[in-house]
Amino acid sequence: MPELEFVNVRKSYRGPTGENLLALDDFSLKVAGGRFVTVVGPSGCGKTTLLRMAGGLIPSETGKIRLDGAVLEGPSPKMSMVFQGIGLMPWKTIEGNVSLGIQLQAHRQKLTAEESHFVKATLELVGLKGFEHYYPHQLSGGMQQRVGLARALVRQPEILLMDEPFGALDAQTRTVLQDELLNLWGRVKSTVLFITHDLDEAIYLSDMVVIMRRRPGRIKQVLEVNLPQPRYSYDARAEKEFTRLRSIAWQSIKEEL
Ligand SMILES: Nc1ncnc2c1ncn2[C@@H]1O[C@H](COP(=O)(O)OP(=O)(O)OP(=O)(O)O)[C@@H](O)[C@H]1O
Ligand SMILES: [Mg+2]
Repeated sequence: MPELEFVNVRKSYRGPTGENLLALDDFSLKVAGGRFVTVVGPSGCGKTTLLRMAGGLIPSETGKIRLDGAVLEGPSPKMSMVFQGIGLMPWKTIEGNVSLGIQLQAHRQKLTAEESHFVKATLELVGLKGFEHYYPHQLSGGMQQRVGLARALVRQPEILLMDEPFGALDAQTRTVLQDELLNLWGRVKSTVLFITHDLDEAIYLSDMVVIMRRRPGRIKQVLEVNLPQPRYSYDARAEKEFTRLRSIAWQSIKEEL
């Protein structure tokens, strides 16, 4: 599985009155192949900016991002992104939305029979069999989020970039989808870079939790999570190590709020 490496990455934006706003600075991190790495940090600390850079959507002003050693110059077919706030096309069916993942990648409208079959299989994988012909507004929030995930997975990414994918969901649905994601990750074995505000979610899902400072975002602390995977196979949240890590993370993040 490919490794993703940020070397001294930085991004500033132009504000409404022309002022310079430094969003992210001096960010260096290695996401080893096959690992599940989560970034947490206060709102506005540059997490989405970081993920968009990882996806090759915006360039870094300094340093570089390496994908398997090669400098990233733009979006790569090896990566898929699940955006903050899903972003489904309301006029397309669920099947149409997921097919779009392939159409955009292949630069053509028509899917081959094999691709269509794969779209259906992916929808089944995320628990949406039978909803292929529904439209997004006919689904619950949790189901829409699964469509977002299916649209990313259908590209068979080696790196999955996820920006607060469960942020808008109720606690119960969120817990269910966390387990489903861990289960999927165990099967597809991709490298994951995940963003969340939720410390429990971060510790529960990942091998490594990266805590950021408030804007301009820089790394404050990195925590290794050594609890065995898959975490749904036992009550990981009740483990002493889990509570220990959460209390360290909370202490660290509290100072940034
Ligand atoms: N296109 C843009 N133009 C100008 N400023 C921007 C733009 N995008 C983001 N910013 C600014 O950059 C900073 C970081 O934004 P970013 O979206 O990366 O934060 P975030 O950590 O993802 O926040 P949240 O947790 O709220 O999603 C913010 O102060 C934001 O106002
Ligand atoms: Mg964001």
